[in-house]
Amino acid sequence: MTVEAAAAVVSTESYVFQGTINKKPPHVIGGKGVYMTIEKDGKVYEDVLDAVTGAAVGALGWGDEEILPIIEKAAKNHTYSFPSIIGNQASEDLAKFYIENSPKDVFAAALWCCSGSESNENAMKIIRQYQMERGCPEKTKIISRDISYHGFTLGALSISHCGRADLFKDISIDQTNTCLKMPVCYPYRYQQKGETEEQYSQRLLDALEKIILDNDPKTVSCVLVETLPGSSLGTVPSPKGYLSGIRALCNKYDVIFMLDEVMCGTGRCNPNGKLNCWESFIGPEDAPDIQTVGKTLGSGYVTIAGVLVGPKIRDAFINGSNAVFGSHTYASHGFNCEVALGVQKKISREGLTANIFKMGNLMGSKLQDALLKEDNIVGDVRGIGGFWSLEFVKDKATKEVFPVELDIGHRFQKVCFDNKLSVMGMQGNADGTSGDIALLAPAFIITEGDVDAIVQKVIESVNQLTKEMKAEGTW
Ligand SMILES: Cc1ncc(COP(=O)(O)O)c(C=O)c1O
Repeated sequence: MTVEAAAAVVSTESYVFQGTINKKPPHVIGGKGVYMTIEKDGKVYEDVLDAVTGAAVGALGWGDEEILPIIEKAAKNHTYSFPSIIGNQASEDLAKFYIENSPKDVFAAALWCCSGSESNENAMKIIRQYQMERGCPEKTKIISRDISYHGFTLGALSISHCGRADLFKDISIDQTNTCLKMPVCYPYRYQQKGETEEQYSQRLLDALEKIILDNDPKTVSCVLVETLPGSSLGTVPSPKGYLSGIRALCNKYDVIFMLDEVMCGTGRCNPNGKLNCWESFIGPEDAPDIQTVGKTLGSGYVTIAGVLVGPKIRDAFINGSNAVFGSHTYASHGFNCEVALGVQKKISREGLTANIFKMGNLMGSKLQDALLKEDNIVGDVRGIGGFWSLEFVKDKATKEVFPVELDIGHRFQKVCFDNKLSVMGMQGNADGTSGDIALLAPAFIITEGDVDAIVQKVIESVNQLTKEMKAEGTW
């Protein structure tokens, strides 16, 4: 490359290697409550209503004045130490808080890390070590789901199934002998006419049982699903009997039941004013053995995620080596844990989990009423609590998807942004490649007025895009 050519490549609007590389992405300037100020292509957009809080991250909204002194105190308290040699009280306190705010005896310990991907990566290794500690080293197989997302590290991609995972399949963990996939749970597309929810669940459970039997149950280590999928599939609530049925199969074949609640958990979809999303679907008797969390745990104020470990796994370690192999430099980081605990205590004190469950369901039902029967591109509106999605289809009756190249999910995101509403458009829900959705995951602090404002802007954006597509002949 000539010096001139190299200079042309280096001369860039952005020095961050992310998203579109040679173009500065929209930048956040600031935020207050449920509104953000964003600069895009040289123009400043004030009062952008944040209906997705980044990637379902924000519980408290932005610029929370009560969190600033918590951050200051945590910074003053903080002296870094390498966690597997010298620990800190804040990580203990956060673990105790999560355990005590979950149903009794479900979780017994927690590991804190910095991202959801890292939490799933660690969970895979904890499960592996668990099987070795109890003398079952032949148990290596992990069964996760078609059309799923568990993170962007190679281990997490290996248990995922989506376009992002597909890109890296040649360097992922073996998909035939180690990271197996079971059918997606997706009633909108795959529950048959005349089939009840329970019958659909049973069909999926039969398929899972067949995979376990076909792959020698003695070698199956774990079954894992997102309790409420998000970026992969759009927010599909589990049909009746599905999660409890997986639990029963795990019990039957001595397999670990793991839930990924990185995106849907930590208060976003809990019906009891607590933390876990699974409490919307199953009782403590069917709880997971291990669970990953992230996102709203730090609510965007700190980078924190975690692995919650049940008593069965913890006991096996204690009765074995009593040590966890390996760790990360920034695991159980004292500053992150102290701020996250402050965030969670505020959420708990102010009943914000109960608020988002109520307000989120109100938002969802208003969107269903307004969009499903009208002549537009919305085929489904689904979700629970503070996590909802719209699915776009070419034909509401046949559920035909739009051609991939139209990229409707992302186009909808752009239309919403122009209408000063932040949502997340995604593609690939139907089969890993095609299908378009948009996600909504507002802050837990939203009021009825905010719900109405979000609903109004979503309707306006759906109508605008539908009209544009009609005019250009793509719908
Ligand atoms: C269900 C689920 N698991 C894991 C992750 C990965 O989390 P992170 O992006 O923090 O690594 C995500 C991210 O969206 C997710 O939705």
